[in-house]
Amino acid sequence: MSDESRPSPTRQAPDTRANTPTAVVIPAAGRGVRLGPGAPKALRALGGTPMLIHAVRAMAASRGVSLVVVVAPPDGADEVKSLLDAHALPERTDFLVVPGGSTRQESVRLGLDALPPEYGIVLVHDAARPLVPVDTVDAVIDAVREGAPAVVPAVPLADTVKQVEPAGTPGEPEPVVATPERARLRAVQTPQGFDRATLVRAHGTVTDDVTDDASMVEQLGLEVVVVPGHEEAFKVTRPLDLVLAEAVLARRRLNDGF
Ligand code: C5P
Repeated sequence: MSDESRPSPTRQAPDTRANTPTAVVIPAAGRGVRLGPGAPKALRALGGTPMLIHAVRAMAASRGVSLVVVVAPPDGADEVKSLLDAHALPERTDFLVVPGGSTRQESVRLGLDALPPEYGIVLVHDAARPLVPVDTVDAVIDAVREGAPAVVPAVPLADTVKQVEPAGTPGEPEPVVATPERARLRAVQTPQGFDRATLVRAHGTVTDDVTDDASMVEQLGLEVVVVPGHEEAFKVTRPLDLVLAEAVLARRRLNDGF
């Protein structure tokens, strides 16, 4: 057998995963300070509905998802439970709320700890990406079912990216160190999908501060693959993102009306 035709040792046979139940962990315990003062980011309203509810509905819209675990602010689990109870959610999906931690990583780990044993595939989705289309969720699940231990949705970049030597003081000029080739870069979104055992191992092994879960799996030396993301899966981070999110919702309402 040539090297090309030999299956990757980190992949699992697709048929062992085809019927594996899938759960989603939504870390929603951040304060979202970049959005300005006010309620925790996940509880901010978009089109009159909290961002978190949009995110939960976006995950539950996938027929492949049978459990959604919301990781709430440490002192806000009861509030989040009441919020879920107060909004219509698909009946075929189960919901759990657990208190989060002081970092995103800790919050995800606490969500993983709460998963019943039968869930062999786990998606991790930021509450701050409320408008991800169901096709993106399904594409991630499909790629994990087909055998990838870790899958990330991503989009090409519009801007050229520079690596800099960060200035000590904000606003100071920063020397450019390198310009990575834009065509080879992708902006990564969520939900990111994982073989559960792989993600649990990554969270138990990697202690560095990371900004996404897939990079922990990369650090284990395992294969991470990219599938096409979507422009509407953007992260609501700054005040302008709220304006864009409202515009996307208004466009959806208009399209649904016809
Ligand atoms: O801060 P950032 O936008 O990267 O946060 C990404 C996601 O992680 C958000 O949905 C936020 O609520 C969540 N988070 C968390 N626990 C923390 C910090 C952030 O669940 N301690």
